[in-house]
Amino acid sequence: MITPWDELVAAGLIRELVDLAPLTTYKLGGPAHLYSEPETIEHLSGLALAFQRSPIPILVLGRGSNLVVSDQGFPGLVVRLGRPFAGIETTDELVTVGGLASLPQVARSATGAGRRRLEFMIGIPGTAGGGVRQNAGCFGSEIDDVLVDAEVFDLATGTLSTLDRSALDFSYRHSSVEPTQVVVNARFATEEGDPKTGLNQIKEHTRWRKTYQPGGTLNAGSVFKNPPGDSAGRIIDQLGLKGMSVGGASVSEKHANFFVALPGTKATEVYLLVEQVAAKVQEATGIELEPEIQFAGSFRDESGIGD
Ligand code: EPU
Repeated sequence: MITPWDELVAAGLIRELVDLAPLTTYKLGGPAHLYSEPETIEHLSGLALAFQRSPIPILVLGRGSNLVVSDQGFPGLVVRLGRPFAGIETTDELVTVGGLASLPQVARSATGAGRRRLEFMIGIPGTAGGGVRQNAGCFGSEIDDVLVDAEVFDLATGTLSTLDRSALDFSYRHSSVEPTQVVVNARFATEEGDPKTGLNQIKEHTRWRKTYQPGGTLNAGSVFKNPPGDSAGRIIDQLGLKGMSVGGASVSEKHANFFVALPGTKATEVYLLVEQVAAKVQEATGIELEPEIQFAGSFRDESGIGD
């Protein structure tokens, strides 16, 4: 039987078995069963129609900077917005960006244009869409502090809606954006300010990250959310777990809430390290650390390790 997905493959709108590793900062994991880079809302509508006729798991991918894809890949459709969604436009107090816009580029562009408040985004190596979905944050600010509204396309219903900040139900590293929803646009509020002061602030942030975070390695940022009133990195460090490893994945010597991977590391190794560190923290402190990075696909294998 020919599925709506086969039709989209035949029409050249989606591709099969696309390697996801290069699309993530960890550079590991298997392929997407189906992969699409929609360039227009019409393309997204085509995907929604197929989804309604034949639902399959959906993974919306941004920069892949907070993601571990299973070694078996993702058994459904991976949607990554195409280039037309990478725009950044500054008009007076509003900065309007496409879902694919890079947050560090948003920081530089808005700050250079004499707008302040978005400098913190220099520390978030992701897309605007991913940042909204995750309510990403750095240097004491988060997306929630500056977002005015976001345009969201829902692949499950085929509808495009503008959701204002309150409708997104933001909390620490959380929003109400569902797995089938694609953030296609976001508007941020800014204040007028001296570009030079703003760009200096950006330089300062960049220096801080270089000093305290393991840049230049394969990683996906903070592995765990910080528990209320404490820091996952501090807790893991205090238990002496820096350097602990499973295969090619290890707890960074520089920052204990970053798990770095050597080239060739398996996604399962990262998964097991996350599980083992969480178990040690739980055993020693009673604190249940919750992963901040997302795992996509199945992490179940013959040894019975489950996801
Ligand atoms: N610390 C240690 N040992 C370590 C790491 C940290 O003792 O190995 C201590 C630090 O000395 C500091 C405290 O833990 O006193 C907090 O560490 P840090 O300032 O590095 O911040 P964090 O809580 O680990 C958070 C965000 C980061 C963000 C930084 C800077 C979370 C989970 N992480 O990290 O976000 O870059 O603040 O604002 O909220 C991310 O989300 O991926 C991410 C990197």
